[in-house]
Amino acid sequence: MPDTMAVDYTTSIPNNVGLSEDRRVLKALEKWHPGYLDWWKEMGPEGFQESLVYLRTAVGVETGGWAKFDYVKMPEYRWGILLAPQDKERLIGFGQHKGMPAWQEVPGEYRAMLRRLCVIQGDTEPASVEQQRHLGATAPSLYDMRNLFQVNVEEARHLWAMVYLLQKYFGKDGREEADGLLRRRSGDVDQPRMLGAFNETTPDWLSFFMFTYFTDRDGKMQLESLAQSGFDPLARTTRFMLTEEAHHMFVGDSGINRVIKRTCEAMIAAGIHDPYDINAVRSLGVIDLPTLQKKANLHYSLSLDLFGSEISTNAANAYTNGLKGRYREDKIDDDHQLLNDTYPVLRLVNGQVETTLEPALTALNMRLRDDYTRETASGIKRWNKQIEKAGISYELKLPNVTFNRKIGVFSEIETSPEGLILDHKIFEERKDEWLPSQDDGAFVASLMHAEVRPGHYAGWIAPPKMGIDNKSGDFEFVQIQ
Ligand SMILES: [Fe+2]
Ligand SMILES: [Fe+2]
Repeated sequence: MPDTMAVDYTTSIPNNVGLSEDRRVLKALEKWHPGYLDWWKEMGPEGFQESLVYLRTAVGVETGGWAKFDYVKMPEYRWGILLAPQDKERLIGFGQHKGMPAWQEVPGEYRAMLRRLCVIQGDTEPASVEQQRHLGATAPSLYDMRNLFQVNVEEARHLWAMVYLLQKYFGKDGREEADGLLRRRSGDVDQPRMLGAFNETTPDWLSFFMFTYFTDRDGKMQLESLAQSGFDPLARTTRFMLTEEAHHMFVGDSGINRVIKRTCEAMIAAGIHDPYDINAVRSLGVIDLPTLQKKANLHYSLSLDLFGSEISTNAANAYTNGLKGRYREDKIDDDHQLLNDTYPVLRLVNGQVETTLEPALTALNMRLRDDYTRETASGIKRWNKQIEKAGISYELKLPNVTFNRKIGVFSEIETSPEGLILDHKIFEERKDEWLPSQDDGAFVASLMHAEVRPGHYAGWIAPPKMGIDNKSGDFEFVQIQ
């Protein structure tokens, strides 16, 4: 048995899964590799491929010390296959197989379902790289540029993670799916990515921070529930992906916080106390708070759509069959089978929004979405503290879950961010108050200019408290070549 802890750097693909003894999978991955590099060159970050970026590379899976930082050219990044350590005693924690040993191979009857879970997760990873590919050219600092590229190479590693599972455990169909992951393109008319939010554009850095805060966090919730899977290789893969994911959340959270800080500082310095005096605020070259609210409304609602339908038999089956658990399933104190339980779900009843009690099994998407909303709300609280500290009276809020939905029961209605049902005409008339308008987009775009002098930051964003890897904010995080 290969030692699951040590990472082998002698193969072209660094790994801790014993690839050098697994010729079939190694060969399949080596065959896939050139197409992957073509994809990276075509769809990865535009420009900067020759630059030296101060990146973190995963070199192990032990807590603490799992990563090393160094200057790397992105195409030479060591995208590896790393699974969290195996617990040989691990048992399936939920569903009808609860208490049985976790599966090390794919159970035949769940093959199609498991493959689909891997493909959907895998598809989001390269999609986000594609969505963000133009942003390097307008980075507000070298620090931010480095963070962008870090997120990009790690999302690409997450693609590797899913491709490994497909190649190793799903035979010929797995290989075809692995190729499909390189074929689809975010926003493409003929071959789009699988999920809506991953076909939207990420036109500017504010969108990037919103995306990493709101949309990447959906990814985190999905990974958390897959980390509970009875299919052990999937659980171990996603558990290690979560380690990297924490940094992506940080980039979004701290990014938005820094934008707010800068806006408030500029307003106070100019003696502007009315956050709704948009022209005055914008004339300072900073992003007004109402525009931040609209961006948050958009990204939150797009991200809610990723949780799928309110009532889902697919979700119930994935749970009952032990494939996808609840958020922190192993910390929940109940029977982990949910056969007779109910869960409150917001639904449309005779045209009105009402809470109904539904079987907990079919309401699992909602439960995960509620967990997501709770986590998301904690960031909003932190941002509001920042505004309050500056002495400005303004409060950011999460919109109602009924607002701006394209998937699920609320896609049939239109509501205000407060959840008031509106007729279509009124919604259309007012929507620029609630969602970023063309004007807002043009204003944000007008601020996007690259700042590439070490230690300098664009005027619309405050410097970070400190750099990455204990470096100071004026460290040369990217050596542009
Ligand atoms: Fe990811
Ligand atoms: Fe991520």
